[in-house]
Amino acid sequence: MSLVAPHARFPTARVLAHPVVADVLSRLREHATPTMEFRRHMAVLAKALGLAATLDLEATTRSIRTPLDVMEAPALPDPAPAIVAVLRAGLALSDHLVDLMPDAVLGQVGLRRDPETLEAVSYLTALPDLAGRPVLVCDPMLATGGSLSRTLELVMAHGAMASQVRVLTVIAAPEGLARVATAFPEVVIYTCAVDDRLDENAYIRPGLGDAGDRYFGTPH
Ligand code: PRP
Ligand code: URA
Repeated sequence: MSLVAPHARFPTARVLAHPVVADVLSRLREHATPTMEFRRHMAVLAKALGLAATLDLEATTRSIRTPLDVMEAPALPDPAPAIVAVLRAGLALSDHLVDLMPDAVLGQVGLRRDPETLEAVSYLTALPDLAGRPVLVCDPMLATGGSLSRTLELVMAHGAMASQVRVLTVIAAPEGLARVATAFPEVVIYTCAVDDRLDENAYIRPGLGDAGDRYFGTPH
């Protein structure tokens, strides 16, 4: 049994097939889950997604000294991966990925969905040079795909190669997966679940509500 199963309908999506991940996601979704627990559950899912999305990174070695010996020890490739958070809610994942990849370089893209048009409006682009790096784009919710499409355009404009970009998202809607797969067929999307549909406000159903508001504890 594979930890990351390709999705039957969306070939660019990889769904984490693990009972612990599924249970933590159910707790995250629950309306009654308070902010502190919501943050803890996000941290677990961030690390699970981070490990799954980096399974194919080519390992290298570096020389280290243990208390008893020296050895050529496994290490992540150079240049180090880049972690890109789509603000705000992407921080809910990226904050915890840094624990897995302490040398990673960090970037941020600030986007807000316009409530009328539902299109992503950009308010910040703070990206390093991404050429030659594996890039992990973090946003817990993939709804219409507008925010992710805009982010991927910016990431490519900063030197990333599509085949080196991996998206980490907790819940994806079929509509968003289809849109991103059409525009970026080489980009693989790691997710904990593919939900049923979008509602009339472009919220994912059953979903978990507003990820940013629930993570940051702002009114919802
Ligand atoms: C949410 C979410 C994604 C976006 C997904 O952000 O974190 O970025 O919506 O929707 P889309 O696929 O239809 O673009 P939101 O605009 O609520 O901002 P926030 O993260 O600052 O709360
Ligand atoms: N953004 C969210 O936080 N939740 C959704 O369901 C859709 C977009």
